[in-house]
Amino acid sequence: MTTDTTGTVARDGDSRPGGPADSPFIRACRRRPVPHTPVWFMRQAGRSLPEYREIRASVPMLESCRRPELVTEITLQPVRRHGVDAAILFSDIVVPVAAAGIDLDIVPGTGPVVAEPIRTAADVERIRPITRDDVPYVDEAVRQLVVELGDTPLIGFAGAPFTLASYLVEGGPSRTHAKTKALMYGDPELWHALCARLAEVTLAFLRVQIEAGVSAVQLFDSWAGALSEADYRRFVLPHSTAVLSGLAGAGVPRIHFGVGTAELLGAMGEAGADVVGVDWRTPLDVATGRIGPDKAVQGNLDPCVLLAPWPVVEAEVRRILEQGRAAPGHVFNLGHGVLPETDPEVLTRVVALVHELSSRRADQG
Ligand code: CP3
Repeated sequence: MTTDTTGTVARDGDSRPGGPADSPFIRACRRRPVPHTPVWFMRQAGRSLPEYREIRASVPMLESCRRPELVTEITLQPVRRHGVDAAILFSDIVVPVAAAGIDLDIVPGTGPVVAEPIRTAADVERIRPITRDDVPYVDEAVRQLVVELGDTPLIGFAGAPFTLASYLVEGGPSRTHAKTKALMYGDPELWHALCARLAEVTLAFLRVQIEAGVSAVQLFDSWAGALSEADYRRFVLPHSTAVLSGLAGAGVPRIHFGVGTAELLGAMGEAGADVVGVDWRTPLDVATGRIGPDKAVQGNLDPCVLLAPWPVVEAEVRRILEQGRAAPGHVFNLGHGVLPETDPEVLTRVVALVHELSSRRADQG
């Protein structure tokens, strides 16, 4: 075991020169010098790729997440095609919740749908703690992927307690999160019991991925932006902190991301992240002012910009790289996931452009 300048314990042998722990992506997460700004895209493995749609044509979403050979192939597709600096495990945030005993499905065109929503203390008890034996397919897929990916780092991920609670309480996707907030405000004790249980499941799920060999983890609190900072701090932060701080000694960088979180960026960093994900609403130099100098940032191209003519895309990429220089580490990404209608050729061009512009700057010292 070695300790680096950030005080993080690195896992034995994984920081050999050229290995995943020495990759531009991990170096940027740790705020170390990089040969070029690393880039990957949330939802890079998915509906924008024809080769993905072909595989998924005959396999339901949850089943595809439970077949290691499919998870491996789908995870590798965008790495082969775009030359991104990191892979993200193909799965969904509801996979561990299903493994914990909750009857749910991912309905095409709708998203996760829960058969019996969680609304009472007895419902919370239905969410069982999980171990590796509940998600053997994730363990197996990560192990295969680490071999296939070689020096390219693999990002593991999970949903954060608030975002998971929203699907479970609503019973499906929601624009207002009204039932979720009604429970949160109306029965704080039950709310905290639910989130504590979800934090336990999430922590166990991320530990399985880390033990199997992922090089970093991202905690998605996609819908946290629905809350004020005061409510976020009271109702959500302790539970996200339980997850991220629980991984403090695991030796992998922790990324924390949400949408519409301009007012929450500081608090989300405090939850124990090494990198804070920023959506397109907050420029990266402003974001880093809110997050502080001891964390890297990830983002933040508006996914819709990728649908515009190339000169528009190029100008936005340049702007984001420029503003990202204010941060002590920058991982280029979108402000949210790739839209299904995105032309994959544009993603490939963005990767090449980020590499070209940022390595030219590195040459100049
Ligand atoms: O590319 C695809 O969307 C196809 C595969 C797919 C995923 N999830 C992959 C996924 C599908 C059909 C789903 C269902 C689902 N689950 C949806 C989409 C509903 C639809 O049809 O439009 C949603 C919103 C969920 C819930 C969910 N899953 C959230 C909120 C998140 C966090 C990231 C985010 O987008 O805010 C996920 C994670 C997720 N789903 C990932 C993948 C591959 C991992 C993250 C990543 O690759 O960036």
